[in-house]
Amino acid sequence: MLDLSWVRSQFPGLGHTTDVLLDNAGGSQISQSAISGINDFLTQCNVQLGADYGTSKEAVKRVTQAQSAISTWLNAKQSEEVIVGASSTWLTRMLSLQLMKTWQPGDEVIITDVDHEANRSCWLDLQDQGIVIKHWRVNTETHELEISELNKLLCDKTRLVCCTHVSNIYGHINPIADWAEVVHNHGADICVDGVAYAPHRLLDVQALGVDYYFFSFYKTFGPHQAVLYGKHENLQRLPGINHRFIKDTPYRFQPGNVNYELICGIHGAIRYLLTLGRHHNNGHSSLRENLNLAYNAIADYEQQLIEPLIEFLYTHKDIRIIGDTVADKNQRVATVSFIHKTLSSQDVAQQANQQGLGIRYGDFYAVALIDTLGLRNQHGVVRVSLAHYNSPEEVSRLIEVLHKL
Ligand SMILES: Cc1ncc(COP(=O)(O)O)c(C=O)c1O
Repeated sequence: MLDLSWVRSQFPGLGHTTDVLLDNAGGSQISQSAISGINDFLTQCNVQLGADYGTSKEAVKRVTQAQSAISTWLNAKQSEEVIVGASSTWLTRMLSLQLMKTWQPGDEVIITDVDHEANRSCWLDLQDQGIVIKHWRVNTETHELEISELNKLLCDKTRLVCCTHVSNIYGHINPIADWAEVVHNHGADICVDGVAYAPHRLLDVQALGVDYYFFSFYKTFGPHQAVLYGKHENLQRLPGINHRFIKDTPYRFQPGNVNYELICGIHGAIRYLLTLGRHHNNGHSSLRENLNLAYNAIADYEQQLIEPLIEFLYTHKDIRIIGDTVADKNQRVATVSFIHKTLSSQDVAQQANQQGLGIRYGDFYAVALIDTLGLRNQHGVVRVSLAHYNSPEEVSRLIEVLHKL
């Protein structure tokens, strides 16, 4: 059982609002230990890195430890594979411009119509430079991206396949390891959006076999920053965007360096997850093991949390869930979207908002998916995205309000 009152006590923001926060895929609350990480850096060693005096050495130590902890979180082989930047959108844009320098006109990139624009627009824009974009279309009946469709698109000109681990609309977990294998068999690389996955399940970029993978820390209990993982041999082929004389990876991709205090904040978020693992299982010595325990607790708890909501939405005659109708933690995370037969998604969300429920409607920048599903006129979907600090009472309150609506 998750110790919910302990968990909630780790998120000071929860005590400063009367709204029930159910839009966590938009942005999660920041953990106290992430706030402390930022604060401690700024108050204890806010100097420039790289000098020989003690405070500067301390600052280097903290930033380096943070980079290494992020690398462990991702299960990257080495910290050099971990690029930290302002946002996922920023990092994929940077990646697209870098990869373009190694590609030829006529080379092909495959994108999906399920993805958030962070893994679409930057690739679509390369059409201006002669890159051919192919579209891996979702089956609008099953809401699945089918491997058979992908196989039809892959060819010897394919350089990259861009897809999402979990859609921020569907909440369904995609079989990335299987997809990566298919992509690699055709000699291409795979770039995966993990933004909607990382707050709910532990990542393992090596087990997934991905070439590039990114997610945002402000949705994962940390500050407004993001990470892009790139396999070392892949990053080595890219020129970099920093000063000409800077050859080190990942510094080559972090012009002006990382934001020191925010990377320490990210380390704080990782410490929160570590403590969560320890708190619930007496702890293990390794960071990775504790992260694993933390995420197991999160996955079990979130499945219980979302079960009654899915049940309510599924059995209500005027409501249609968009995507999976199961609560099984192996198939979905705690994000669910739906539409109402007669009310627009805007109506539903706004009426719930008036009752103090922080849910949201729209396309959530999964613009192509909402258009493909023909849901634009309905103002997109209503999305409820739970985090492990939400309580069963909050979910009951939502169900009650939706029922009255
Ligand atoms: C699934 C998904 N991918 C990418 C992004 C973009 O992240 P960022 O705001 O860090 O650019 C978001 C943000 O909402 C998202 O939900």
